[in-house]
Formats: sequence, C-alpha cells, structure tokens
Amino acid sequence: MHKGIFITGTDTGVGKTFVAVGLITALKKLGYSVCPMKPVETGCRSLNGRLVPADALKLICAAEVDEPLNSINPYRFRQPVAPAVAADLEGVVINRQKIFSAYRQLSDKYDITFVEGAGGIMVPIWRNYLFLDFIKDLKLPVVIVARPGLGTINHTLLSIEAARNRGIKVLGVVLNDALKTGNDISVKTNPQVIEHIGRIPVMGKVAYFKNTRTYTYQKVFCQFAEKILSCD
Ligand SMILES: Nc1ncnc2c1ncn2[C@@H]1O[C@H](COP(=O)(O)OP(=O)(O)O)[C@@H](O)[C@H]1O
Ligand SMILES: [Mg+2]
Repeated sequence: MHKGIFITGTDTGVGKTFVAVGLITALKKLGYSVCPMKPVETGCRSLNGRLVPADALKLICAAEVDEPLNSINPYRFRQPVAPAVAADLEGVVINRQKIFSAYRQLSDKYDITFVEGAGGIMVPIWRNYLFLDFIKDLKLPVVIVARPGLGTINHTLLSIEAARNRGIKVLGVVLNDALKTGNDISVKTNPQVIEHIGRIPVMGKVAYFKNTRTYTYQKVFCQFAEKILSCD
C-alpha cells in the first residue's frame, strides 16, 4: 500500500476532485485514515475578503479531517490560471519546502494522503518547476483521471509517457465521465487501447452520477479503492 498518492488528470475539469472525493470516502469506509492535500489552488473566489479554495474544502469534507487549512492547501490564488502564473500575477513566491513540510506532517499522521494537482501533470507550480517535478521529489505514484471518449487516447498516453520519462510510477488510469458523454464506440474501445499501448490498468470507469448517494456510486469507488490498496 502506498502512503501517498498523487491524483492528476489529462486536463482541468476531467474529475480529479470528484474521483478523489469518491476514493477518500471509500477508503474511510474500509477503515483507513485518509488526508487530502491540494498544494496550490487557483481560481478561488473571494468571500468576506478571504479566498475560498473549493476543491480543498470538498476534499476536507470527504476526509472529515481536522487539520489547518494552510497545511492541506498552503497556497491559493484568485486568478484562474496555472499556479506559477497566478503566483506571479499576485506577487507571491511559492516556496516548495513549505509544501513539502506540510505534506510530510500530514503523511506521517494518516494511513494515506491524497494529493490533487491543478490541471495536468506538466502544469508549472513555480517558474519552470512542474507538477511532474513535485511528484518526483515527493516520490509519489500517480493515478491519472481522463475523459472516457474521443481524444482521450492521445492525452492519456502523453500523460503516462511524461510521468514515466521522469521515473514516476503510474498506478493506473480512471476514465471518468464528467461531461455525460455516454457510451459511444470510442468510450467502449478506449479502455482496451489505453491498457494495451500504455501497459497500464484502467483501474476504474466512473459513469456520470447525478446523485452520489447511491449504491452504484459506493460500489464503483469501493472496488477502485481496493485496487489502489493492492498496488505496491
Ligand atoms: N462522474 C461524474 N459524475 C457527475 N459529475 C461529475 C463527475 N465527474 C466530475 N463531475 C463534475 O464535473 C465538474 C468538474 O469535475 P472536477 O472534479 O472539479 O474536475 P477537476 O478536479 O479535474 O478540475 C464538477 O462539477 C464535478 O462535480
Ligand atoms: Mg479539482
């Protein structure tokens, strides 16, 4: 079992937070203590003069942890752009040691820590320091969340290749239907192509869920969580 797992995606909006919430909930049901981390969140709205990191808050609600927000989400920005760009625009220097030490403190305390990126794997956190570099420095394995339909083969294989080129372990891919694309011929054939060419398991296929309080939702994520737990 891995102590820390990084959830990345082929793009923004593919369902990283949705999948992380499902996994955290399932792992908790299975008896594990789980903590999330969202090192940098951009596009935060402002409420009473404070920035609200929506993803970090969803993850915290799922994990039901009582940790300082600044440990789980050390950096948050208003501008809806890559972290390095938002930091620059807002005159903030991102100190990666601050993120590392927050991660270490959390991961020492919990069975599993889930870290969600921002956008995809080659997004810059600070200047030319990418999420890829961060994942490598923390020696985290990754799960890639991808779209299920047309176009996903290219994006998913590129993400797998980029991770492997840096020596990062890819545990698997989750094909998540955030946009309710349904079940066309590409959706039916993509998993096999990704598994074959990517030499990687498609660990989960997550349908569009209008309602997450269903037995099917729980079952999908429990099965997925068991696969995550069995990875070494
Ligand atoms: N399988 C799904 N079923 C229903 N809604 C989903 C699903 N996956 C994602 N969504 C919704 O799509 C939007 C984008 O998903 P999100 O997890 O925020 O993406 P990301 O974290 O990759 O940017 C959110 O509103 C989320 O609730
Ligand atoms: Mg997200």
